[in-house]
Amino acid sequence: MTKITLRRPDDWHLHLRDGAMLAAMAPESARHFARAIIMPNLVPPVVTGAEAAAYRDRIRAALPEGSDFTPLMTLYLTEATDPDDLARAHAEGIVTAAKLYPAGATTNSASGVRDFDKVRPVLERMAEIGMPLCVHGEVVDAEIDIFDREAVFIDRVLDPIRRATPGLRVVMEHITTRQGVDYARSGGADLGATITTHHLVLNRNHILVGGIRPHYYCLPVAKREEHRLALRAAATSGEGCFFLGTDSAPHVDAAKESGCGCAGCFTATNTLSVLAEVFEQDGALDRLEAFTSLNGPAFYGLPANEARVVLQRGEPVSYPARIETGAGPVTVFDPGFPLHWRVL
Ligand code: DOR
Ligand code: ZN
Repeated sequence: MTKITLRRPDDWHLHLRDGAMLAAMAPESARHFARAIIMPNLVPPVVTGAEAAAYRDRIRAALPEGSDFTPLMTLYLTEATDPDDLARAHAEGIVTAAKLYPAGATTNSASGVRDFDKVRPVLERMAEIGMPLCVHGEVVDAEIDIFDREAVFIDRVLDPIRRATPGLRVVMEHITTRQGVDYARSGGADLGATITTHHLVLNRNHILVGGIRPHYYCLPVAKREEHRLALRAAATSGEGCFFLGTDSAPHVDAAKESGCGCAGCFTATNTLSVLAEVFEQDGALDRLEAFTSLNGPAFYGLPANEARVVLQRGEPVSYPARIETGAGPVTVFDPGFPLHWRVL
């Protein structure tokens, strides 16, 4: 196969940031993607419907002239989230989903949830109105090893929440483990999982062997090879519960290449070429469209995009090593292998 045509992809988990960073990042995602679920972990976070509407307008203003990219907004759940405000913002079409960050789990998550019982009324309202909950699935307990935090979260937090809130639609964001894959598969129509581009490529050796690679550090951190293989099998399976959420999370190089580097891989620019290479390596190019363009809209109850993108195989494609932004340079994810699929 040397040419593939896909319905235009969507990104079901994206960090666009704000200000000078947003100005540089909006065009990077709008180039190949039609829609994206926009993460609300700004400083301060996007907590109310009014804040989400204002952020949506700033994103629209940052798009290139004529772009039809649609930001699908999310609210950042806190223990003080007002269920009425959330339901109103959902009914008015301002927000698509809400994001649950355990407090302290990752970048700008300090206002997240410490006591999950405190958000029970919000979760019940979300189940009633059919509003999906996007979950950063890691426990933050100091005694839990960072490589076990996802598996422990599923048992201690996610499964109890789902049992206590029948009908709640949940997206397990950026799963990184075999346990995450297995749980997503077992959950029926109300459970989905996003998988990032970089977690299909990296295991923990890539971060640590031969020197520390700050641009491969993200959260949840990449795990052992057996987990990467489980993610590859899930993403390339075509199964409806698995869909692309890049978690493209730009930080300027100075913040990554530091004594305490920020978590996040920036993949928006070259994701489609990387995914085509990955699916080709696994003999699954015929299932790429399900992962990038069909399963996500089906879960969110939205139509798949009518527009198409064409990928062509040929000589290796080059992408910029970094994107210059008004806040500083941001390094583009290096998959470590040549990319033969060009997005036309
Ligand atoms: O690696 C990550 N970066 N994981 C997250 O959960 C947050 C993100 C960010 O905002 O930088
Ligand atoms: Zn994220």
